[in-house]
Amino acid sequence: MSTMNAPVIIAVDGPAASGKGTLARKLAAHLDYAYLDTGSLYRAVGLQVFRAGGDPENEQDALKAAEKLPDIDLSDPELKSESTGGLASKVAAIPSVRACLLDFQRNFARNPPGAKAGAILDGRDIGTVVCPDATLKLFIIADVETRAKRRVLEQYGTGASDLEFQAILDDLIQRDSRDTNRASSPLKAAKNAHLLDTTNSDIEAVFEQALALFSNRMAKA
Ligand code: CDP
Repeated sequence: MSTMNAPVIIAVDGPAASGKGTLARKLAAHLDYAYLDTGSLYRAVGLQVFRAGGDPENEQDALKAAEKLPDIDLSDPELKSESTGGLASKVAAIPSVRACLLDFQRNFARNPPGAKAGAILDGRDIGTVVCPDATLKLFIIADVETRAKRRVLEQYGTGASDLEFQAILDDLIQRDSRDTNRASSPLKAAKNAHLLDTTNSDIEAVFEQALALFSNRMAKA
């Protein structure tokens, strides 16, 4: 149970390109809460290992990059590419890398920057491991073809070829499987998470649903 002055924490988890980042950012702007895209931390570590010529599945290489996290530029556009997503999911399977990033994430949630009244974190294990006491937990899903279409649109605009679509779809399937089947903090809905399926809903509808769940939860707090 949170104390009266503890910040409100909203955990938004789900598979790749499910729409969790868009939802989390929209909620944070609406509620004036701090927002952390935890995937960007794993992406930064993966990209750093790659650029240093290391192996993202090698613990020493990955841990060295994770320990340097404060030096990594989180606004590098290459962070968003699907190939960086693949590197991220490799370093993310290494328990010592996850442990290294845990304090940063928990500290963000407990002391939201800008002295905001709440924090919203999106990722894979926020509701299960990073913030198991979160005020509200959302688990965002969508079928994989829909998710691939969204990612293709994000990365290529409307002019993508079938081959480009297929490559993104294959990458998402591989990444989901790696994230779901790893031993350390796998992608999994917390028992008390609310499942939101965005396959046939636009962002506005999902946002309204999430906001209603939030208001309901706060009314009971
Ligand atoms: O944006 P997208 O959903 O494609 O991915 P992301 O949230 O940026 O996460 C990239 C990768 O980082 C994921 O595939 C996971 O392997 C890893 N990750 C994780 O293990 N735990 C988190 N809390 C967030 C991301």
